[in-house]
Amino acid sequence: MGTRIIGTGSCLPGTVVTNDDLAKIMDTSDEWISTRTGIRERHLAKEETTAGMSAEAAGRAMENAGVTAQDIDLIIVGTVTADNVTPACACEVQALIGADHAVAFDINAACSGFMFALHIAHAWLQTGVYRTALIIGAETLSKIMDWSDRSTCVLFGDGAGAAVVRADERGGLLAFDQGTDGVRGRVLSCPNRSNNNPLVRTSKELQYVHMDGQEVYKFAVTQVPASLQKTVEAAGLNVGDIDYFALHQANIRILQAVAKRLKVSEEKFPVSLDHCGNISAASVPILLDEMNRQGLLKPGMKVALAGFGGGLTWASAVLEW
Ligand code: COA
Repeated sequence: MGTRIIGTGSCLPGTVVTNDDLAKIMDTSDEWISTRTGIRERHLAKEETTAGMSAEAAGRAMENAGVTAQDIDLIIVGTVTADNVTPACACEVQALIGADHAVAFDINAACSGFMFALHIAHAWLQTGVYRTALIIGAETLSKIMDWSDRSTCVLFGDGAGAAVVRADERGGLLAFDQGTDGVRGRVLSCPNRSNNNPLVRTSKELQYVHMDGQEVYKFAVTQVPASLQKTVEAAGLNVGDIDYFALHQANIRILQAVAKRLKVSEEKFPVSLDHCGNISAASVPILLDEMNRQGLLKPGMKVALAGFGGGLTWASAVLEW
């Protein structure tokens, strides 16, 4: 039994913040940000919440798939910025969309969150326990950024992407690979939790995202092509057989470096980071939804997906659309 993506949806907050807008509130420039990252603008949440955007993206994905909330057996949200510690974002989504009999939970695998959720859903759909799953990547990263650190806050954005996946005898997901490297995890971290234990003396000050950009860059440009190569081979294909590489949208230079290492044209790497920035777990499903709605994805096409980031975590998949 295989797993097929049968519908996609996404939701971005209404407020667009350009690089020039950021240059008005910190010492940066459109030139610095766009040449080093490819990012020109990002959407930042004001009233929007992680759960609200997730539900909106989920509704669009269900409509695209031709299913209703009553068809959904499982909801998994990949996020590091759920609105609450509990209830989980997935539980709030369940309530918002009315998926009464679904089981719902969140996972934290940072920028690989959507990919890990896809693999978990695949494992359960294969057993026959569930038939239809809603997998979501959603973030309001703006609330965990250090807005006094220009080297990180300019890179990220907010939004949500969703996909409906269904057990399918004709396949769909052909192969996947995933991994973690906790030893190097601190190169991208965000403590951001206060400790309310009266027996423990801790600073009440929340700490925000901290990143060693160059180490993360080195990790991405070695681990991602290696994982993709492995997955493509496990699917019985060559990299030249892949029609599109839909990768986590962190930095245009990472996409270019991965294309170069795989010896594949950059044209096969669609881009959304120019108008979205890096939205962690939401990047891959938002990109996939944009590709789907632009009509780029045709039945039978081979599409490689990859997520990578905090943890450190990485995951790739090859699917037949
Ligand atoms: N605007 C202007 N100048 C900035 C800046 C900004 N937003 N951010 C940093 N700078 C400055 C630094 O202060 C430094 O100045 P200095 O030389 O006077 O000290 C200079 O630019 C170079 O900084 P550095 O951090 O060495 O830049 P870099 O070339 O490594 O590029 C990244 C930084 C973040 C773009 C790059 O490391 C990167 O893309 N890493 C991967 C990050 C990523 O994708 N993370 C998410 C993965 S999920």
